[in-house]
Amino acid sequence: MKITRILCRGLLIAIAVICSPPAAAAEPIRVVLELVPDIDNGRRSFEICARCHLPEAWGNDDGTYPQLAGQHVNVLMKQLLDIRSGRRANPAMQPFVQQRTIGGYQDLADVVAYISTLPMNPDHVKGPWPPDSSEYLEGRSLYSQHCAGCHGATGEGNNGLSYPRLQGQHYEYMARQARLVRDNLRQIKPSMAALLGALSAEDFDKVLNYVSYLPVPQADLAPSADWRNPDFQ
Ligand code: HEC
Ligand code: HEC
Repeated sequence: MKITRILCRGLLIAIAVICSPPAAAAEPIRVVLELVPDIDNGRRSFEICARCHLPEAWGNDDGTYPQLAGQHVNVLMKQLLDIRSGRRANPAMQPFVQQRTIGGYQDLADVVAYISTLPMNPDHVKGPWPPDSSEYLEGRSLYSQHCAGCHGATGEGNNGLSYPRLQGQHYEYMARQARLVRDNLRQIKPSMAALLGALSAEDFDKVLNYVSYLPVPQADLAPSADWRNPDFQ
Protein backbone atom coordinates (compact mmCIF):
# COMPACT_ATOMS: atom_id res chain seq x y z
CA MET A 1 0.00 0.00 0.00
CA LYS A 2 2.77 2.34 1.02
CA ILE A 3 4.54 1.78 -2.29
CA THR A 4 1.34 2.52 -4.21
CA ARG A 5 0.91 5.77 -2.30
CA ILE A 6 4.47 6.89 -2.98
CA LEU A 7 4.15 5.96 -6.64
CA CYS A 8 0.86 7.82 -6.98
CA ARG A 9 2.28 10.95 -5.39
CA GLY A 10 5.27 10.91 -7.71
CA LEU A 11 3.49 10.26 -10.95
CA LEU A 12 2.04 12.68 -13.44
CA ILE A 13 -1.52 13.85 -13.87
CA ALA A 14 -2.03 11.38 -16.70
CA ILE A 15 -1.95 8.58 -14.14
CA ALA A 16 -4.35 10.37 -11.76
CA VAL A 17 -7.19 8.15 -12.93
CA ILE A 18 -5.46 5.04 -11.61
CA CYS A 19 -4.82 6.62 -8.23
CA SER A 20 -8.26 8.15 -7.64
CA PRO A 21 -11.09 6.10 -6.18
CA PRO A 22 -13.39 4.88 -9.01
CA ALA A 23 -16.26 7.25 -8.15
CA ALA A 24 -14.04 10.30 -8.57
CA ALA A 25 -12.21 9.01 -11.64
CA ALA A 26 -12.05 11.72 -14.25
CA GLU A 27 -12.05 11.22 -17.98
CA PRO A 28 -8.70 12.11 -19.56
CA ILE A 29 -8.95 15.59 -20.98
CA ARG A 30 -8.82 15.72 -24.74
CA VAL A 31 -9.22 18.99 -26.58
CA VAL A 32 -10.14 18.74 -30.21
CA LEU A 33 -9.73 21.94 -32.13
CA GLU A 34 -11.85 22.62 -35.14
CA LEU A 35 -10.58 25.83 -36.66
CA VAL A 36 -11.40 27.07 -40.12
CA PRO A 37 -8.07 28.37 -41.41
CA ASP A 38 -7.58 31.82 -42.89
CA ILE A 39 -4.94 31.29 -45.59
CA ASP A 40 -4.29 35.04 -46.03
CA ASN A 41 -3.47 35.43 -42.38
CA GLY A 42 -1.29 32.30 -42.65
CA ARG A 43 0.63 33.85 -45.53
CA ARG A 44 1.27 37.01 -43.51
CA SER A 45 2.49 34.97 -40.54
CA PHE A 46 4.70 32.85 -42.80
CA GLU A 47 6.81 35.88 -43.70
CA ILE A 48 8.77 35.49 -40.48
CA CYS A 49 9.09 31.72 -40.94
CA ALA A 50 10.42 32.29 -44.47
CA ARG A 51 13.49 34.04 -43.09
CA CYS A 52 14.75 30.65 -41.98
CA HIS A 53 12.67 28.09 -43.87
CA LEU A 54 12.83 30.14 -47.13
CA PRO A 55 9.74 31.44 -48.99
CA GLU A 56 9.18 28.04 -50.66
CA ALA A 57 9.38 26.20 -47.27
CA TRP A 58 11.85 23.84 -48.90
CA GLY A 59 14.52 23.98 -46.20
CA ASN A 60 18.17 23.69 -47.18
CA ASP A 61 20.64 21.12 -48.40
CA ASP A 62 22.76 20.86 -45.27
CA GLY A 63 19.64 19.98 -43.29
CA THR A 64 19.78 22.93 -40.88
CA TYR A 65 16.20 23.75 -41.91
CA PRO A 66 13.70 21.06 -42.82
CA GLN A 67 11.46 20.99 -45.84
CA LEU A 68 8.01 21.92 -44.46
CA ALA A 69 6.12 21.91 -47.78
CA GLY A 70 4.15 18.71 -48.19
CA GLN A 71 4.15 17.76 -44.52
CA HIS A 72 0.77 16.76 -43.04
CA VAL A 73 -1.05 19.58 -41.28
CA ASN A 74 -1.51 17.63 -38.04
CA VAL A 75 2.21 16.86 -37.95
CA LEU A 76 3.14 20.51 -38.56
CA MET A 77 0.69 21.62 -35.87
CA LYS A 78 2.05 19.13 -33.36
CA GLN A 79 5.61 20.29 -34.03
CA LEU A 80 4.63 23.93 -33.58
CA LEU A 81 2.95 23.18 -30.27
CA ASP A 82 5.87 21.04 -29.08
CA ILE A 83 8.39 23.73 -30.06
CA ARG A 84 6.22 26.48 -28.53
CA SER A 85 6.07 24.70 -25.18
CA GLY A 86 9.73 23.68 -25.22
CA ARG A 87 8.81 19.99 -25.27
CA ARG A 88 10.81 19.83 -28.50
CA ALA A 89 13.98 21.89 -28.06
CA ASN A 90 14.43 24.52 -30.78
CA PRO A 91 15.84 27.68 -29.18
CA ALA A 92 16.27 29.49 -32.53
CA MET A 93 12.64 29.14 -33.50
CA GLN A 94 10.91 29.11 -30.12
CA PRO A 95 10.46 32.91 -29.79
CA PHE A 96 8.60 33.05 -33.11
CA VAL A 97 5.82 30.66 -32.15
CA GLN A 98 4.73 32.23 -28.90
CA GLN A 99 1.33 33.77 -28.18
CA ARG A 100 2.96 37.22 -28.09
CA THR A 101 4.58 36.81 -31.51
CA ILE A 102 2.40 34.63 -33.74
CA GLY A 103 -0.82 34.53 -31.67
CA GLY A 104 -3.17 31.74 -30.59
CA TYR A 105 -4.23 28.36 -31.95
CA GLN A 106 -6.12 30.01 -34.81
CA ASP A 107 -2.95 31.75 -36.03
CA LEU A 108 -0.98 28.50 -35.80
CA ALA A 109 -3.70 26.72 -37.78
CA ASP A 110 -3.59 29.51 -40.38
CA VAL A 111 0.15 29.30 -40.96
CA VAL A 112 0.03 25.52 -41.15
CA ALA A 113 -2.79 25.72 -43.71
CA TYR A 114 -0.76 28.19 -45.75
CA ILE A 115 2.28 25.87 -45.74
CA SER A 116 0.05 23.06 -46.99
CA THR A 117 -0.67 25.05 -50.16
CA LEU A 118 3.01 25.04 -51.19
CA PRO A 119 4.41 22.45 -53.64
CA MET A 120 7.44 20.42 -52.56
CA ASN A 121 11.08 20.76 -53.59
CA PRO A 122 11.58 18.52 -56.65
CA ASP A 123 15.27 18.07 -55.85
CA HIS A 124 15.84 17.37 -52.16
CA VAL A 125 19.14 16.00 -50.86
CA LYS A 126 19.51 12.21 -50.82
CA GLY A 127 21.80 9.79 -49.00
CA PRO A 128 25.12 8.40 -50.28
CA TRP A 129 23.95 5.00 -51.63
CA PRO A 130 22.00 5.10 -54.91
CA PRO A 131 19.11 2.72 -55.72
CA ASP A 132 21.26 0.07 -57.42
CA SER A 133 23.56 -0.42 -54.40
CA SER A 134 23.36 -3.27 -51.90
CA GLU A 135 23.15 -0.76 -49.02
CA TYR A 136 20.04 0.74 -50.58
CA LEU A 137 18.42 -2.69 -50.96
CA GLU A 138 19.19 -3.61 -47.37
CA GLY A 139 17.76 -0.27 -46.27
CA ARG A 140 14.60 -1.06 -48.19
CA SER A 141 14.00 -4.33 -46.38
CA LEU A 142 14.78 -2.70 -43.00
CA TYR A 143 12.27 0.01 -43.81
CA SER A 144 9.45 -2.37 -44.65
CA GLN A 145 10.22 -4.45 -41.58
CA HIS A 146 10.53 -1.63 -39.03
CA CYS A 147 9.13 1.65 -40.29
CA ALA A 148 6.42 1.13 -42.89
CA GLY A 149 3.87 0.13 -40.24
CA CYS A 150 3.73 3.75 -39.05
CA HIS A 151 5.22 5.89 -41.81
CA GLY A 152 3.48 3.98 -44.63
CA ALA A 153 4.75 1.69 -47.40
CA THR A 154 5.92 4.66 -49.48
CA GLY A 155 6.81 7.03 -46.62
CA GLU A 156 3.57 8.95 -47.06
CA GLY A 157 2.87 9.19 -43.31
CA ASN A 158 -0.61 9.56 -41.87
CA ASN A 159 -2.28 12.85 -41.11
CA GLY A 160 -4.97 11.39 -38.84
CA LEU A 161 -2.42 9.61 -36.66
CA SER A 162 0.18 12.41 -36.93
CA TYR A 163 2.86 10.17 -38.43
CA PRO A 164 5.18 12.41 -40.44
CA ARG A 165 5.53 12.08 -44.15
CA LEU A 166 9.17 11.14 -44.71
CA GLN A 167 9.15 11.54 -48.50
CA GLY A 168 11.07 14.55 -49.77
CA GLN A 169 12.85 15.42 -46.54
CA HIS A 170 16.53 16.34 -46.82
CA TYR A 171 18.76 13.42 -45.88
CA GLU A 172 20.91 15.36 -43.38
CA TYR A 173 17.88 16.71 -41.56
CA MET A 174 16.18 13.35 -41.38
CA ALA A 175 19.27 11.54 -40.17
CA ARG A 176 19.83 14.18 -37.49
CA GLN A 177 16.22 13.92 -36.30
CA ALA A 178 16.43 10.14 -36.22
CA ARG A 179 19.62 10.36 -34.13
CA LEU A 180 17.92 12.77 -31.72
CA VAL A 181 14.99 10.37 -31.36
CA ARG A 182 17.28 7.36 -30.91
CA ASP A 183 19.29 9.12 -28.23
CA ASN A 184 16.13 10.28 -26.44
CA LEU A 185 16.91 13.94 -27.11
CA ARG A 186 13.65 14.41 -28.95
CA GLN A 187 10.73 12.93 -27.07
CA ILE A 188 8.39 11.04 -29.31
CA LYS A 189 6.67 7.67 -29.36
CA PRO A 190 8.87 5.51 -27.12
CA SER A 191 8.39 2.61 -29.53
CA MET A 192 10.20 4.45 -32.32
CA ALA A 193 13.11 5.42 -30.07
CA ALA A 194 13.51 1.82 -28.90
CA LEU A 195 13.33 0.60 -32.47
CA LEU A 196 16.04 2.94 -33.71
CA GLY A 197 18.16 2.12 -30.67
CA ALA A 198 17.97 -1.57 -31.52
CA LEU A 199 19.40 -1.07 -35.02
CA SER A 200 23.14 -1.37 -35.56
CA ALA A 201 24.91 1.84 -36.67
CA GLU A 202 25.19 0.42 -40.22
CA ASP A 203 21.53 -0.52 -40.43
CA PHE A 204 20.55 2.88 -39.07
CA ASP A 205 22.48 4.58 -41.90
CA LYS A 206 21.10 2.22 -44.52
CA VAL A 207 17.46 2.67 -43.55
CA LEU A 208 17.75 6.47 -43.55
CA ASN A 209 19.54 6.37 -46.87
CA TYR A 210 16.64 4.35 -48.30
CA VAL A 211 14.06 6.75 -46.86
CA SER A 212 15.75 9.69 -48.56
CA TYR A 213 15.08 8.09 -51.98
CA LEU A 214 11.35 7.47 -51.43
CA PRO A 215 9.75 9.29 -54.35
CA VAL A 216 7.34 12.14 -53.76
CA PRO A 217 4.11 11.82 -55.79
CA GLN A 218 4.54 13.95 -58.92
CA ALA A 219 1.41 15.98 -58.21
CA ASP A 220 2.92 17.31 -54.95
CA LEU A 221 6.13 18.57 -56.55
CA ALA A 222 6.93 22.06 -57.82
CA PRO A 223 7.41 22.20 -61.61
CA SER A 224 11.17 22.75 -61.24
CA ALA A 225 13.87 23.46 -58.68
CA ASP A 226 13.83 27.06 -59.97
CA TRP A 227 10.22 27.60 -58.93
CA ARG A 228 9.90 30.55 -56.57
CA ASN A 229 6.95 31.25 -54.31
CA PRO A 230 5.06 34.07 -56.10
CA ASP A 231 3.60 35.28 -52.77
CA PHE A 232 7.05 36.53 -51.78
CA GLN A 233 8.39 37.88 -55.07
C1 HEC B 1 15.21 31.53 -36.56
C2 HEC B 1 14.95 30.51 -37.56
C3 HEC B 1 13.55 29.92 -37.62
C4 HEC B 1 12.35 30.60 -37.74
C5 HEC B 1 12.10 32.09 -37.80
C6 HEC B 1 11.33 29.57 -37.83
N1 HEC B 1 11.89 28.32 -37.76
FE1 HEC B 1 10.93 26.53 -37.90
N2 HEC B 1 12.66 25.51 -37.55
C7 HEC B 1 13.90 26.12 -37.45
C8 HEC B 1 14.91 25.09 -37.25
C9 HEC B 1 16.42 25.31 -37.05
C10 HEC B 1 14.22 23.86 -37.24
C11 HEC B 1 14.83 22.44 -37.08
C12 HEC B 1 15.17 22.21 -35.65
C13 HEC B 1 15.84 20.88 -35.41
O1 HEC B 1 16.83 20.59 -36.06
O2 HEC B 1 15.31 20.11 -34.61
C14 HEC B 1 12.80 24.17 -37.42
C15 HEC B 1 11.80 23.22 -37.44
C16 HEC B 1 10.47 23.48 -37.75
C17 HEC B 1 9.42 22.49 -37.84
C18 HEC B 1 9.56 20.99 -37.59
C19 HEC B 1 9.61 20.26 -38.90
C20 HEC B 1 9.80 18.77 -38.79
O3 HEC B 1 9.21 18.05 -39.61
O4 HEC B 1 10.57 18.28 -37.95
C21 HEC B 1 8.27 23.16 -38.18
C22 HEC B 1 6.90 22.57 -38.41
C23 HEC B 1 8.61 24.57 -38.30
N3 HEC B 1 9.96 24.73 -38.05
C24 HEC B 1 7.72 25.58 -38.67
C25 HEC B 1 7.99 26.94 -38.57
C26 HEC B 1 6.99 27.98 -38.73
C27 HEC B 1 5.55 27.75 -39.09
C28 HEC B 1 7.62 29.18 -38.50
C29 HEC B 1 7.01 30.57 -38.48
C30 HEC B 1 5.97 30.80 -37.54
C31 HEC B 1 9.02 28.88 -38.22
N4 HEC B 1 9.21 27.52 -38.26
C32 HEC B 1 9.99 29.84 -37.96
C33 HEC B 1 14.18 27.47 -37.53
C34 HEC B 1 13.24 28.49 -37.64
C1 HEC C 1 5.33 3.30 -33.74
C2 HEC C 1 5.26 4.13 -34.93
C3 HEC C 1 6.59 4.49 -35.59
C4 HEC C 1 7.55 3.64 -36.09
C5 HEC C 1 7.54 2.11 -36.09
C6 HEC C 1 8.57 4.48 -36.65
N1 HEC C 1 8.24 5.81 -36.47
FE1 HEC C 1 9.32 7.40 -37.11
N2 HEC C 1 8.01 8.67 -36.19
C7 HEC C 1 6.84 8.30 -35.59
C8 HEC C 1 6.18 9.48 -35.06
C9 HEC C 1 4.86 9.50 -34.31
C10 HEC C 1 7.01 10.58 -35.37
C11 HEC C 1 6.75 12.07 -35.04
C12 HEC C 1 6.86 12.29 -33.60
C13 HEC C 1 6.59 13.72 -33.18
O1 HEC C 1 5.45 14.00 -32.97
O2 HEC C 1 7.51 14.52 -33.09
C14 HEC C 1 8.14 10.03 -36.09
C15 HEC C 1 9.20 10.80 -36.59
C16 HEC C 1 10.21 10.32 -37.41
C17 HEC C 1 11.24 11.14 -38.01
C18 HEC C 1 11.38 12.64 -37.86
C19 HEC C 1 10.53 13.31 -38.91
C20 HEC C 1 10.58 14.82 -38.87
O3 HEC C 1 10.07 15.41 -39.85
O4 HEC C 1 11.06 15.41 -37.93
C21 HEC C 1 12.02 10.30 -38.75
C22 HEC C 1 13.21 10.69 -39.61
C23 HEC C 1 11.51 8.96 -38.57
N3 HEC C 1 10.40 9.00 -37.75
C24 HEC C 1 12.06 7.83 -39.15
C25 HEC C 1 11.68 6.53 -38.83
C26 HEC C 1 12.38 5.35 -39.30
C27 HEC C 1 13.59 5.36 -40.21
C28 HEC C 1 11.74 4.27 -38.74
C29 HEC C 1 12.09 2.80 -38.87
C30 HEC C 1 13.45 2.43 -38.46
C31 HEC C 1 10.61 4.79 -37.95
N4 HEC C 1 10.63 6.14 -38.02
C32 HEC C 1 9.71 4.00 -37.27
C33 HEC C 1 6.36 6.99 -35.48
C34 HEC C 1 7.04 5.85 -35.83
